[in-house]
Amino acid sequence: MGLAVTGIGAAAPAPSLSNDQMSQFVDTSDEWIRSRTGICDRHLADAHTSLTDISTQAAQAALTMAGLQPSELDLIVLATSTPDDLFGSACQIQAALGASNAVAFDMTAACSGFVFGLVTAAQFIRTGVYRNILLIGADMLSRWVDWSDRRTCILFGDGAGAVVLQANDRDRLLGFELRSDGTQNHYLNLAYQAQPQDLTPEISVAHGRFHPITMNGQEVYRFAVKRVPEVIEKALFRAGLRVEQIDWFVLHQANQRILDAVAQRLQIPPEKVISNLAHYGNTSAASIPLALDAKVRQGQVGCGDTIAVAGFGAGLTWGAAIFQW
Ligand code: ACO
Repeated sequence: MGLAVTGIGAAAPAPSLSNDQMSQFVDTSDEWIRSRTGICDRHLADAHTSLTDISTQAAQAALTMAGLQPSELDLIVLATSTPDDLFGSACQIQAALGASNAVAFDMTAACSGFVFGLVTAAQFIRTGVYRNILLIGADMLSRWVDWSDRRTCILFGDGAGAVVLQANDRDRLLGFELRSDGTQNHYLNLAYQAQPQDLTPEISVAHGRFHPITMNGQEVYRFAVKRVPEVIEKALFRAGLRVEQIDWFVLHQANQRILDAVAQRLQIPPEKVISNLAHYGNTSAASIPLALDAKVRQGQVGCGDTIAVAGFGAGLTWGAAIFQW
């Protein structure tokens, strides 16, 4: 059995923080951020807005586009690194949607989460197990950055994006390639730091906390610019397609310089590379569906267009998938 993407939706918290506003509390400037990253402002969730809230909003929009009732869903996959609950948030979204017949679970592959989720969900349809799947990529990294660290806090925004995948006679997922390299894990972390807590004189357990995001920006940059073109080429090879046959490239929105460098290496015309970085920043697992949703709703991405998506991030993980809209 094949599959098709039949709906897409996105949501971001309303409050938007500009670079100038940011320079009021951290030593940076609009010029520095804009020229190094392409980011002008980003949406940030307040304490009353949950990941479940924005994910549910994105999911409802995707279901409406697909013409599917929540009760018709077989599976909900939430790709996130920032759940409302470490036990997972997919079941909370299931409840909020009223998707009573679906099984729901979280999965984590950092900023590659949407691409890894797409491929994971596709396997359930291809094997004939499920017919209707909701895939959500959502993150609220604002909860986890050190707001006094100018090297990282300027990069991130909050958001959610969702797609509906349905069984289809013709398989519209044309090719994919997923990769990871744990030896490079130390370049990008949101790590648990254990503190010993003695329960008895002999027994001690770890009772610590998560440390805010740490990143070696230059190494992540080098990794992305080298690995992303490679993985796109591999996915294209598996799909039996050439770069020039792709209508749209939707890369993880980490940094405009990374998008430009990848486009240059693959000789992709810049107008084919979708970017929403200026107004959303890096929304991690949400960035690809968030960027694609806008283009679909503006009518620029149309039926039959061939799309290459590529995610990359912590792990390190990276991957690409080619599908037809
Ligand atoms: N404002 C002003 N100055 C700054 C800022 C800031 N926000 N951040 C860093 N600087 C300063 C540094 O302190 C340093 O000053 P110094 O030379 O006096 O010590 C100088 O700018 C250069 O710092 P670098 O870290 O070398 O800056 P770089 O040019 O590499 O840009 C950036 C940093 C934008 C993060 C870049 O490395 C990059 O694009 N990396 C890719 C990583 C990325 O995009 N990560 C996103 C998250 S991960 C993911 O989604 C995959």
